[in-house]
Amino acid sequence: MHTKIDTLFANLWQDYLSITPSAKKVHDLLGGQNGTSELINDHVAFRTFNIGKINLDKLAAHFLALGYEEKGQYQFEQKKLVAKHFEHADTTKPKVFISELLVEEFSQPVQKIIAKMVANIAEDAATHSDFLYSGTHWTINSEEYDLLLEESEYAAWMSAWGFRANHFTVSVNHLEHFQVLADVNNQLKDAGFVLNTAGGEIKGGPDVHLAQSSTMADKIEVQFADKPKVIPSCFYEFAQRFTLPSGTLYQGFVAASADKIFESTNAKNN
Ligand code: NI
Repeated sequence: MHTKIDTLFANLWQDYLSITPSAKKVHDLLGGQNGTSELINDHVAFRTFNIGKINLDKLAAHFLALGYEEKGQYQFEQKKLVAKHFEHADTTKPKVFISELLVEEFSQPVQKIIAKMVANIAEDAATHSDFLYSGTHWTINSEEYDLLLEESEYAAWMSAWGFRANHFTVSVNHLEHFQVLADVNNQLKDAGFVLNTAGGEIKGGPDVHLAQSSTMADKIEVQFADKPKVIPSCFYEFAQRFTLPSGTLYQGFVAASADKIFESTNAKNN
């Protein structure tokens, strides 16, 4: 039986696949041929701006209503972001990682473009049941995208893709045919996938109780107001968790690693 949570993640997954064609191949490669139920997602990540009507809390409200609880807070000073993670009592449900861009820390031109985008969103849009995969609520041109990209890859990504899952994350601990993240990475590379090497192919490790890697985002043609342009869409992440001295599996995130994972949608370096 599908719960409301499963339905939400199924909808997010379909939306994610629609702009991330490689995700289906990665999914099948790691043993999920018969549907998403075979692969356990460690977490799903979302991005937004810290502007009232669509801020982190507005996205989080959807998960809190489904029984999720806030479990951690993170800061990314260089990228001018903050984030929170949420967990469900049913540990087979994906954790949720939501970040928001601190808009006021950017230049006036960038703030102006973002304000224009957000002004176009209906006041109650964030309360709609499909908001988390509603995409963009605005149009921008390619020059505005490039201007955002100069200061923030994250802002540029948001302007092109809007509200949707930024990435799904395979739980390596739950994979049948792989024990360690390095083996997953090798399988992916053998199949021709390009991994994010910012901060090393594997971010973190047993010392911080979490090892993560990710593919570089797919490149998709987007129709901007003035012209089409091929830009990064979404990526797939892989996470292996380690036990704490207490014997329980670590469930948090590691800011230094997440900082590098953000670069999987970098338009400049891939
Ligand atoms: Ni992630």
